[in-house]
Amino acid sequence: MKVNLNIPSPITEIKSDLISKKKLKVYVKREDLIHPIISGNKWRKLKYNFELIKKNKIKEVLSFGGAYSNHLHALSWFANTQKIKSIGIVRGNESDELNSTLSFCKKNNMDLYYLDRDIYRINKYSNNLINDLNKKYKNIYMIPEGGCNYLGIKGCEEILFEEDEKFDFICASFGTGCTSAGIINSLRKNEYFLAFSSLKGGERMRDNISKMCNHSKNWQIISNYHFGGFARKNKELDLFIQNFYLKHKIILDPVYTAKLFFGIFDLISNNYFKTNSKILIIHTGGLQGIQK
Ligand SMILES: Cc1ncc(COP(=O)(O)O)c(C=O)c1O
Repeated sequence: MKVNLNIPSPITEIKSDLISKKKLKVYVKREDLIHPIISGNKWRKLKYNFELIKKNKIKEVLSFGGAYSNHLHALSWFANTQKIKSIGIVRGNESDELNSTLSFCKKNNMDLYYLDRDIYRINKYSNNLINDLNKKYKNIYMIPEGGCNYLGIKGCEEILFEEDEKFDFICASFGTGCTSAGIINSLRKNEYFLAFSSLKGGERMRDNISKMCNHSKNWQIISNYHFGGFARKNKELDLFIQNFYLKHKIILDPVYTAKLFFGIFDLISNNYFKTNSKILIIHTGGLQGIQK
């Protein structure tokens, strides 16, 4: 591939009085540093999809997302660099003015189409709009919402693959569960995965995630740090993001990573982790979302 993504994703230790008091070691895997635009799990999920696209000389890629989708944002840019036409199906109605995410997609030559929220929820992959687009563009490769397909999972299996060091707990945020499935598939012996839901009712995703991975042990969903639901937040979360940046110089986004880090610190306060545990938090990027 022409774009040089040299995968800088270091693991750095974070320290605080609380962490020391509880005798824990906490590390962050900085997937957010992979690339300024296609960072974190976006790169992981698109890598093998684009390998397939290039190999098969596919000219058009279509995918789905909300109006602030990190996935569509990354996809539009990556497709454009590879001279592949991208098509974005956006949940909800077109608004008069494009937000920063969709403007960026447009700038990267993504054709945008809007799908009624109910149709999107029930039948986004097969409806009249998709049928029409399949006629309009001759050779579409369709990537599911959030980049969540077999090749997306395969890419996410490499998040842990690169590191030899082992941890007692690995923690990441989930939406579709694709990233979590990849991490679960690559857990090493005695590692336990905590999947933090960015959505309300995240427990319901257990079966979906289970179906995407090769075993269902050694992991669980943590569902009570959704802050009211997907993309919802409050002052407490905003303050957490600000304080976390002041202390650790790491930017968190309010949709995914802030809820994850908030949840982990809350669990630490409540003695969830046994003394001397080593905890690895996956920073999955998504920082474009905070420019809203
Ligand atoms: C920054 C960030 N973190 C976590 C996730 C959740 O990933 P997944 O949909 O694979 O569960 C997303 C969504 O793609 C994301 O943009």
